[in-house]
Amino acid sequence: MTDSETETPLPGGDVTEGVVRVGDTVRRPLGPHSPLVHAILQHLEAQHFDGAPRFLGIDERGREILTFIDGEVANRPHPAWLADETRLVSLARLVRRLDDAMAGFAPSSSMLEAVAAPEIPGMPPEPRAQPQFIGHLDITPENVVFRDGVAVALIDFDLAKPATRVDEVFNLCLWWAPLAPEEDRTDPLRGVDAVARTRLIADAYGLAAVDRQRLVPTAIRRTERSWHLMKYRAEHDGGGWLRMWQDGVGERIERRLAWLEAHGERLSAALEAQSAF
Ligand SMILES: Nc1ncnc2c1ncn2[C@@H]1O[C@H](COP(=O)(O)OP(=O)(O)O)[C@@H](O)[C@H]1O
Ligand SMILES: [Mg+2]
Repeated sequence: MTDSETETPLPGGDVTEGVVRVGDTVRRPLGPHSPLVHAILQHLEAQHFDGAPRFLGIDERGREILTFIDGEVANRPHPAWLADETRLVSLARLVRRLDDAMAGFAPSSSMLEAVAAPEIPGMPPEPRAQPQFIGHLDITPENVVFRDGVAVALIDFDLAKPATRVDEVFNLCLWWAPLAPEEDRTDPLRGVDAVARTRLIADAYGLAAVDRQRLVPTAIRRTERSWHLMKYRAEHDGGGWLRMWQDGVGERIERRLAWLEAHGERLSAALEAQSAF
């Protein structure tokens, strides 16, 4: 075996097993979402958007082949730089560029059906706003590549779905403000001002005034829905989803909801306040 054929495991998120690096490429297993993901990556390439891996095809073992993007990724334990505000601002700008590059992308109905949320009894409905584009919606620390302290790429588009700007900014805030009580944050994000960081994200993204008013209600509704979705996936899909449920993700989501309800007014006020400059 030559070096370029050596498979190095890439530990990252909780769900996908078998992500490996081979030379300058990454190989990942396919799933029902893969046709949408490949179409997204091809669209982004056609738009000359440089902040995502390129889709290179399917290998002889039936895995997707993506370009490996050099840089720093915050794997666990999370590094201290996760709290850095300059990085945060650069990430929010990158996500804005991504969302703008997604405009005009029209996936087929079969691609969308494959990623549609299941109907789950008792789950509250989606926020009413019409989706505006296909959002990334999984902007965890493990899914962002930095170089020289600047966010340069988003990876792992497996959870991409029709989204509004509010949904995408909520997801960004969820992980990076973060919208969670101290006990559920990793070390570098303990003690940071999540309200101030939410405002920083909204400003750097360029979130419109009307969308700022929707952020907290959307966060609450999406958090309620995610409890039902995670439980459903644990019961129906097993694997990493079941492990996460057994590890207490349901209780974490309940604590997030309580945190959002306790801090929602402060968050909305900070988002809507006129900036000092
Ligand atoms: N294209 C890529 N370029 C650079 N690093 C990558 C790439 N794809 C994956 N990685 C690394 O592998 C880890 C896991 O890959 P990811 O695609 O996020 O799978 P998972 O579904 O397990 O989260 C990431 O957190 C990152 O460190
Ligand atoms: Mg990932």
